[in-house]
Amino acid sequence: MTATQAEQDATELSVDDLQYVEDLVRNKIAVQLTGKGYLIESRLAPVARLHKIGSLQDVVRQLKLRSNRQLEADVIDAMTTNETSFFRDRHPFDVLAENVIPRLLEANAGGPIQIWNAACSSGQEPLSIAMILSDKFPQLVAARKVRILATDVSPAMVDRTKRAVYSRFEINRGLPADYATRFFQQQGRDWVARKELSEMIDARLLNLIEPWQGVARADVVMVRNVLIYFSPQVKRDILHRIATQVLKPGGFLFLGASESPAEMDNDYQLVTAGASRLYTTKNGA
Ligand SMILES: C[S@@+](CC[C@H](N)C(=O)[O-])C[C@H]1O[C@@H](n2cnc3c(N)ncnc32)[C@H](O)[C@@H]1O
Repeated sequence: MTATQAEQDATELSVDDLQYVEDLVRNKIAVQLTGKGYLIESRLAPVARLHKIGSLQDVVRQLKLRSNRQLEADVIDAMTTNETSFFRDRHPFDVLAENVIPRLLEANAGGPIQIWNAACSSGQEPLSIAMILSDKFPQLVAARKVRILATDVSPAMVDRTKRAVYSRFEINRGLPADYATRFFQQQGRDWVARKELSEMIDARLLNLIEPWQGVARADVVMVRNVLIYFSPQVKRDILHRIATQVLKPGGFLFLGASESPAEMDNDYQLVTAGASRLYTTKNGA
């Protein structure tokens, strides 16, 4: 066997091994990886290096023994897609500030406002919420009447959300220049969110397919670009739990640009705000 062939063998998994990883990830975090063999292999490679395991087959062999919990956790973490940016799609944040928050303040006589940002990735999304509310509602924020719970299943992402440290590249993706100077401090090559911003955000680990311990009733739930990774049944279940367990009557749900709770007619109704689509629970409309 040539060296090249040996290297190739170390980085390629059999159909059975791929199936094992697919099942593991689906069972633990509901993310579906069917037909994404290349993605699984490319994401397993750094985990193999981290754990000093010589081949991907050996990684799967060890996973099957179910004795190395850290390896299993690292594999699952590696299979999450964490793509995000500041003010992603922009308009939901404008609608939040211009439409949703004024409506909520009118309804509940000035606050407080509780927001749950589920699947927050590395923190740009909850920080975008915190920035636009600090900008447009300074008195509300100064009175500590806005709380943002930011959750993700990935320990690495929750850690990043807590640290709130970003590279120049990340800062340049979607963050207006005046917000960068106003809300971040430059430290060497990095940019760190100012304390008053981070203090609005409570970042925690939370798996959307497990019980939602510690999630308070919320006026706004933002759960964007994560349901796309789940089966229709899991997506339905999560949306139903948000409507019945989390959203306060008259509260609002934001989904990603390509997502809708279409099959959730019993729980939600569409609210049109400018060009944006968001949802409110039927009981609270
Ligand atoms: C593509 S990012 C979306 C980030 C952000 N919401 C946005 O729209 O920019 C998807 C996030 O969902 C998280 N995720 C995947 N499965 C999850 C689960 N079962 N429970 C909670 N979060 C999950 C991933 O860790 C990842 O950070």
